Amino acid sequence: MIECLNLSKRFGQFTAVNDLTFTANKGQVLGFLGPNGAGKSTTMKMITGFLEPSEGRIKVCGMNIEDEPIAVKQKIGYLPEGAPSYGEMEVGQFLHFIAALRDIESHLIKPAVESVISRVNLENVYFQKIETLSKGFKRRVGIAQAIIHDPEVLIMDEPTDGLDPNQKHQVRELITDMSKDKTIVLSTHILEEVHAVCDRAIIIAGGEVVADNTPAEMENMSRYHHAVSFVSDLNVDLLNKIKSMDCVLDVDYDSRLKETTVFPTQGLFIFDEVSQFLKKESIQVKSLKMEAGRLDEVFRNITHTAGEREVVK
Ligand SMILES: Nc1ncnc2c1ncn2[C@@H]1O[C@H](COP(=O)(O)OP(=O)(O)OP(=O)(O)O)[C@@H](O)[C@H]1O
Ligand SMILES: [Mg+2]
Repeated sequence: MIECLNLSKRFGQFTAVNDLTFTANKGQVLGFLGPNGAGKSTTMKMITGFLEPSEGRIKVCGMNIEDEPIAVKQKIGYLPEGAPSYGEMEVGQFLHFIAALRDIESHLIKPAVESVISRVNLENVYFQKIETLSKGFKRRVGIAQAIIHDPEVLIMDEPTDGLDPNQKHQVRELITDMSKDKTIVLSTHILEEVHAVCDRAIIIAGGEVVADNTPAEMENMSRYHHAVSFVSDLNVDLLNKIKSMDCVLDVDYDSRLKETTVFPTQGLFIFDEVSQFLKKESIQVKSLKMEAGRLDEVFRNITHTAGEREVVK
Protein backbone atom coordinates (compact mmCIF):
# COMPACT_ATOMS: atom_id res chain seq x y z
CA MET A 1 0.00 0.00 0.00
CA ILE A 2 2.88 2.37 0.75
CA GLU A 3 6.30 1.93 -0.77
CA CYS A 4 9.13 4.36 -0.11
CA LEU A 5 12.34 3.71 -1.94
CA ASN A 6 15.61 5.54 -1.22
CA LEU A 7 13.75 8.60 -0.05
CA SER A 8 15.82 11.69 0.77
CA LYS A 9 14.97 15.28 1.55
CA ARG A 10 17.45 18.11 1.71
CA PHE A 11 16.76 21.66 2.83
CA GLY A 12 19.69 23.57 1.31
CA GLN A 13 22.83 21.86 2.60
CA PHE A 14 20.95 20.09 5.39
CA THR A 15 19.81 16.50 4.90
CA ALA A 16 16.61 15.98 6.90
CA VAL A 17 15.83 12.51 5.51
CA ASN A 18 18.55 10.28 4.12
CA ASP A 19 17.91 7.25 1.92
CA LEU A 20 14.81 5.91 3.67
CA THR A 21 13.35 2.66 2.32
CA PHE A 22 10.32 0.89 3.76
CA THR A 23 6.94 -0.56 2.85
CA ALA A 24 3.66 -0.72 4.74
CA ASN A 25 0.94 -3.21 3.90
CA LYS A 26 -2.83 -3.29 4.22
CA GLY A 27 -3.99 -4.03 7.75
CA GLN A 28 -0.72 -2.80 9.20
CA VAL A 29 -0.17 -0.04 11.72
CA LEU A 30 3.35 1.23 11.28
CA GLY A 31 4.81 3.47 13.98
CA PHE A 32 7.48 6.07 13.37
CA LEU A 33 9.62 6.67 16.43
CA GLY A 34 12.59 8.92 16.78
CA PRO A 35 14.02 11.88 18.65
CA ASN A 36 12.91 15.44 17.89
CA GLY A 37 14.19 16.49 14.50
CA ALA A 38 14.74 12.89 13.33
CA GLY A 39 12.79 13.37 10.09
CA LYS A 40 9.45 11.72 10.93
CA SER A 41 7.20 14.64 9.95
CA THR A 42 9.28 15.38 6.85
CA THR A 43 8.85 11.76 5.71
CA MET A 44 5.09 11.95 6.31
CA LYS A 45 4.90 15.21 4.37
CA MET A 46 6.57 13.50 1.43
CA ILE A 47 4.23 10.47 1.55
CA THR A 48 1.21 12.78 1.55
CA GLY A 49 2.53 14.91 -1.29
CA PHE A 50 3.05 18.08 0.79
CA LEU A 51 6.80 18.02 0.16
CA GLU A 52 8.60 16.81 -2.91
CA PRO A 53 11.44 14.37 -2.18
CA SER A 54 14.95 15.45 -3.23
CA GLU A 55 15.53 11.84 -4.24
CA GLY A 56 13.68 8.55 -4.22
CA ARG A 57 10.27 7.19 -5.13
CA ILE A 58 6.94 6.92 -3.30
CA LYS A 59 4.09 4.65 -4.34
CA VAL A 60 0.72 4.66 -2.61
CA CYS A 61 -1.88 2.01 -3.52
CA GLY A 62 0.29 1.08 -6.50
CA MET A 63 0.35 4.63 -7.88
CA ASN A 64 3.42 6.76 -8.24
CA ILE A 65 2.87 10.00 -6.36
CA GLU A 66 4.72 12.05 -8.98
CA ASP A 67 2.57 10.70 -11.82
CA GLU A 68 -0.83 10.75 -10.10
CA PRO A 69 -0.69 13.28 -7.24
CA ILE A 70 -4.43 13.90 -7.01
CA ALA A 71 -5.44 10.24 -7.19
CA VAL A 72 -2.90 9.47 -4.46
CA LYS A 73 -4.13 12.30 -2.22
CA GLN A 74 -7.70 11.00 -2.59
CA LYS A 75 -6.59 7.70 -1.09
CA ILE A 76 -4.91 9.33 1.89
CA GLY A 77 -6.20 10.83 5.12
CA TYR A 78 -3.62 13.07 6.79
CA LEU A 79 -3.38 14.45 10.27
CA PRO A 80 -0.48 16.91 10.04
CA GLU A 81 1.75 17.77 12.98
CA GLY A 82 -0.06 20.12 15.37
CA ALA A 83 -3.42 19.39 13.65
CA PRO A 84 -3.75 22.73 11.84
CA SER A 85 -7.23 23.78 10.71
CA TYR A 86 -9.31 26.92 10.17
CA GLY A 87 -9.70 28.49 13.60
CA GLU A 88 -12.51 30.86 12.69
CA MET A 89 -14.77 28.00 11.56
CA GLU A 90 -17.10 26.07 13.81
CA VAL A 91 -16.38 22.34 14.17
CA GLY A 92 -19.48 21.16 12.28
CA GLN A 93 -19.02 23.79 9.57
CA PHE A 94 -15.35 22.84 9.12
CA LEU A 95 -16.15 19.13 8.79
CA HIS A 96 -18.89 19.84 6.21
CA PHE A 97 -16.35 21.95 4.32
CA ILE A 98 -13.74 19.15 4.39
CA ALA A 99 -16.35 16.56 3.34
CA ALA A 100 -17.22 18.68 0.30
CA LEU A 101 -13.51 19.19 -0.50
CA ARG A 102 -13.08 15.44 -0.31
CA ASP A 103 -15.76 15.07 -3.01
CA ILE A 104 -18.21 13.20 -0.82
CA GLU A 105 -21.58 13.19 -2.59
CA SER A 106 -23.82 15.93 -1.21
CA HIS A 107 -26.48 13.60 0.23
CA LEU A 108 -23.74 11.61 2.03
CA ILE A 109 -22.04 14.61 3.63
CA LYS A 110 -24.36 14.88 6.64
CA PRO A 111 -24.09 11.17 7.59
CA ALA A 112 -20.30 11.29 7.06
CA VAL A 113 -19.97 14.31 9.37
CA GLU A 114 -22.27 12.75 11.98
CA SER A 115 -20.32 9.51 11.88
CA VAL A 116 -16.91 11.14 12.53
CA ILE A 117 -18.38 13.47 15.15
CA SER A 118 -19.53 10.47 17.11
CA ARG A 119 -16.36 8.43 16.48
CA VAL A 120 -14.12 11.10 18.02
CA ASN A 121 -16.65 12.51 20.49
CA LEU A 122 -17.13 16.02 19.18
CA GLU A 123 -20.90 16.25 19.83
CA ASN A 124 -20.56 18.89 22.55
CA VAL A 125 -18.42 21.27 20.48
CA TYR A 126 -20.28 21.02 17.18
CA PHE A 127 -21.12 24.76 17.15
CA GLN A 128 -17.89 25.95 18.78
CA LYS A 129 -15.23 27.90 16.89
CA ILE A 130 -12.10 25.76 16.46
CA GLU A 131 -9.79 28.55 17.73
CA THR A 132 -11.62 28.47 21.07
CA LEU A 133 -11.17 24.71 21.56
CA SER A 134 -8.69 23.18 23.97
CA LYS A 135 -5.59 21.49 22.52
CA GLY A 136 -7.03 17.99 22.83
CA PHE A 137 -10.30 18.93 21.13
CA LYS A 138 -8.40 20.62 18.28
CA ARG A 139 -6.51 17.36 17.79
CA ARG A 140 -9.78 15.44 17.72
CA VAL A 141 -11.09 17.77 15.01
CA GLY A 142 -7.84 17.04 13.12
CA ILE A 143 -8.46 13.30 13.43
CA ALA A 144 -12.07 13.73 12.29
CA GLN A 145 -11.05 15.59 9.11
CA ALA A 146 -8.41 12.93 8.38
CA ILE A 147 -10.88 10.02 8.43
CA ILE A 148 -14.04 11.67 7.09
CA HIS A 149 -13.67 10.21 3.55
CA ASP A 150 -12.81 6.73 4.86
CA PRO A 151 -9.35 6.70 3.24
CA GLU A 152 -7.42 3.51 2.47
CA VAL A 153 -4.24 5.03 3.84
CA LEU A 154 -4.03 7.08 7.00
CA ILE A 155 -0.99 9.14 7.91
CA MET A 156 -1.16 10.55 11.42
CA ASP A 157 1.55 12.75 12.87
CA GLU A 158 1.38 12.34 16.67
CA PRO A 159 -2.36 11.58 16.79
CA THR A 160 -2.58 11.32 20.57
CA ASP A 161 -0.39 14.30 21.43
CA GLY A 162 -2.25 16.50 23.92
CA LEU A 163 -5.08 14.05 24.59
CA ASP A 164 -6.09 13.11 28.11
CA PRO A 165 -5.68 9.42 29.11
CA ASN A 166 -9.32 8.58 28.32
CA GLN A 167 -9.13 10.12 24.88
CA LYS A 168 -5.74 8.51 24.22
CA HIS A 169 -7.31 5.16 24.95
CA GLN A 170 -10.29 5.93 22.73
CA VAL A 171 -8.16 7.12 19.81
CA ARG A 172 -5.96 4.02 20.10
CA GLU A 173 -9.08 1.86 19.95
CA LEU A 174 -10.26 3.82 16.92
CA ILE A 175 -6.88 3.29 15.22
CA THR A 176 -6.94 -0.45 15.96
CA ASP A 177 -10.50 -0.69 14.69
CA MET A 178 -9.72 1.19 11.48
CA SER A 179 -6.52 -0.74 10.85
CA LYS A 180 -8.41 -3.85 9.73
CA ASP A 181 -9.02 -2.48 6.27
CA LYS A 182 -6.51 0.37 6.05
CA THR A 183 -2.82 1.04 6.13
CA ILE A 184 -1.92 3.37 8.96
CA VAL A 185 1.35 5.18 9.56
CA LEU A 186 1.59 7.16 12.77
CA SER A 187 4.36 8.92 14.61
CA THR A 188 4.56 9.04 18.36
CA HIS A 189 6.84 9.84 21.26
CA ILE A 190 4.79 7.62 23.56
CA LEU A 191 6.48 4.26 23.61
CA GLU A 192 3.56 2.46 25.25
CA GLU A 193 1.52 3.52 22.22
CA VAL A 194 3.79 1.48 19.99
CA HIS A 195 2.96 -1.51 22.11
CA ALA A 196 -0.75 -0.69 22.18
CA VAL A 197 -1.39 -0.14 18.47
CA CYS A 198 1.58 -0.80 16.18
CA ASP A 199 2.37 -4.05 14.36
CA ARG A 200 5.73 -2.67 13.42
CA ALA A 201 7.92 0.24 14.44
CA ILE A 202 10.57 2.07 12.50
CA ILE A 203 13.02 4.10 14.55
CA ILE A 204 14.39 7.06 12.64
CA ALA A 205 17.38 9.03 13.90
CA GLY A 206 19.31 11.69 12.05
CA GLY A 207 17.08 11.14 8.99
CA GLU A 208 17.93 7.43 8.73
CA VAL A 209 16.18 4.20 9.62
CA VAL A 210 18.08 2.72 12.56
CA ALA A 211 15.63 -0.05 13.47
CA ASP A 212 12.67 -1.75 11.78
CA ASN A 213 11.03 -4.39 13.97
CA THR A 214 7.88 -5.56 15.66
CA PRO A 215 7.40 -4.10 19.17
CA ALA A 216 8.08 -7.58 20.62
CA GLU A 217 11.36 -7.86 18.72
CA MET A 218 12.34 -4.44 20.05
CA GLU A 219 11.57 -5.55 23.60
CA ASN A 220 13.77 -8.60 23.03
CA MET A 221 16.69 -6.22 22.47
CA SER A 222 16.22 -4.74 25.94
CA ARG A 223 18.46 -5.81 28.78
CA TYR A 224 15.20 -6.02 30.78
CA HIS A 225 13.89 -8.79 28.49
CA HIS A 226 12.89 -11.66 30.84
CA ALA A 227 14.32 -9.82 33.85
CA VAL A 228 12.37 -10.36 37.09
CA SER A 229 11.30 -7.33 39.13
CA PHE A 230 9.71 -7.01 42.53
CA VAL A 231 9.14 -4.41 45.21
CA SER A 232 10.41 -5.22 48.67
CA ASP A 233 12.70 -4.10 51.49
CA LEU A 234 15.94 -5.94 50.80
CA ASN A 235 19.22 -5.73 52.67
CA VAL A 236 22.62 -5.87 51.00
CA ASP A 237 23.18 -9.47 52.09
CA LEU A 238 20.07 -10.68 50.34
CA LEU A 239 20.90 -8.68 47.22
CA ASN A 240 24.34 -10.29 47.15
CA LYS A 241 22.82 -13.74 47.60
CA ILE A 242 20.57 -13.18 44.59
CA LYS A 243 23.49 -11.83 42.62
CA SER A 244 25.53 -14.93 43.34
CA MET A 245 22.91 -17.28 41.86
CA ASP A 246 24.22 -19.08 38.75
CA CYS A 247 21.30 -18.04 36.58
CA VAL A 248 21.67 -14.35 37.50
CA LEU A 249 23.81 -11.94 35.54
CA ASP A 250 23.24 -8.81 37.59
CA VAL A 251 20.91 -7.12 40.06
CA ASP A 252 19.70 -3.51 40.18
CA TYR A 253 18.12 -1.95 43.25
CA ASP A 254 16.14 1.29 43.06
CA SER A 255 16.14 2.57 46.65
CA ARG A 256 13.45 5.22 45.97
CA LEU A 257 10.94 2.73 44.53
CA LYS A 258 12.32 -0.16 46.57
CA GLU A 259 12.33 -2.11 43.33
CA THR A 260 14.78 -4.91 42.66
CA THR A 261 15.43 -6.06 39.10
CA VAL A 262 17.18 -9.36 38.56
CA PHE A 263 18.77 -9.81 35.14
CA PRO A 264 19.11 -13.36 33.82
CA THR A 265 22.24 -14.93 32.42
CA GLN A 266 21.82 -14.83 28.65
CA GLY A 267 18.59 -16.44 27.46
CA LEU A 268 17.49 -18.01 30.77
CA PHE A 269 14.04 -17.87 32.37
CA ILE A 270 14.67 -17.15 36.03
CA PHE A 271 11.19 -16.40 37.32
CA ASP A 272 10.84 -19.73 39.18
CA GLU A 273 14.33 -19.56 40.71
CA VAL A 274 13.79 -15.99 41.93
CA SER A 275 10.34 -16.67 43.37
CA GLN A 276 11.55 -19.84 45.12
CA PHE A 277 14.48 -17.92 46.61
CA LEU A 278 12.15 -15.21 47.92
CA LYS A 279 9.88 -17.86 49.46
CA LYS A 280 12.80 -19.70 51.05
CA GLU A 281 14.09 -16.47 52.61
CA SER A 282 10.53 -15.49 53.68
CA ILE A 283 10.79 -12.16 51.90
CA GLN A 284 7.48 -10.33 51.52
CA VAL A 285 7.23 -8.85 48.02
CA LYS A 286 4.79 -6.73 46.05
CA SER A 287 4.29 -7.05 42.30
CA LEU A 288 6.63 -9.86 41.36
CA LYS A 289 6.76 -9.91 37.58
CA MET A 290 8.77 -11.03 34.59
CA GLU A 291 9.47 -8.13 32.25
CA ALA A 292 8.93 -8.24 28.49
CA GLY A 293 11.56 -5.58 27.94
CA ARG A 294 11.64 -1.81 28.15
CA LEU A 295 11.15 0.08 24.90
CA ASP A 296 12.42 3.36 26.36
CA GLU A 297 15.79 1.77 27.10
CA VAL A 298 15.98 0.22 23.60
CA PHE A 299 15.01 3.58 22.09
CA ARG A 300 17.74 5.38 24.04
CA ASN A 301 20.39 2.82 23.12
CA ILE A 302 19.53 2.83 19.44
CA THR A 303 19.15 6.56 19.01
CA HIS A 304 22.22 7.48 21.08
CA THR A 305 24.43 5.41 18.87
CA ALA A 306 22.60 6.30 15.64
CA GLY A 307 24.96 6.70 12.76
CA GLU A 308 27.38 4.13 14.17
CA ARG A 309 24.99 1.22 13.74
CA GLU A 310 23.64 -0.90 10.97
CA VAL A 311 19.86 -1.19 10.63
CA VAL A 312 18.69 -3.69 13.23
CA LYS A 313 16.51 -6.29 11.47
N1 LIG B 1 11.13 23.51 5.72
C1 LIG B 1 12.26 23.23 6.35
N2 LIG B 1 13.38 23.94 6.14
C2 LIG B 1 14.53 23.63 6.77
N3 LIG B 1 14.67 22.62 7.65
C3 LIG B 1 13.57 21.86 7.90
C4 LIG B 1 12.32 22.14 7.27
N4 LIG B 1 11.42 21.23 7.72
C5 LIG B 1 12.09 20.44 8.59
N5 LIG B 1 13.37 20.83 8.69
C6 LIG B 1 14.41 20.18 9.52
O1 LIG B 1 14.43 18.80 9.23
C7 LIG B 1 14.70 18.04 10.40
C8 LIG B 1 13.61 17.00 10.57
O2 LIG B 1 12.42 17.65 10.97
P1 LIG B 1 11.07 16.87 11.25
O3 LIG B 1 10.03 17.88 11.49
O4 LIG B 1 10.85 15.90 10.14
O5 LIG B 1 11.44 16.08 12.58
P2 LIG B 1 10.52 15.13 13.45
O6 LIG B 1 11.19 13.79 13.48
O7 LIG B 1 9.13 15.19 12.99
O8 LIG B 1 10.70 15.78 14.90
P3 LIG B 1 9.61 15.99 16.09
O9 LIG B 1 9.67 14.72 16.91
O10 LIG B 1 10.17 17.13 16.87
O11 LIG B 1 8.28 16.27 15.51
C9 LIG B 1 14.78 19.05 11.55
O12 LIG B 1 16.14 19.30 11.80
C10 LIG B 1 14.08 20.27 11.01
O13 LIG B 1 14.58 21.45 11.58
MG1 LIG C 1 7.40 15.84 13.83
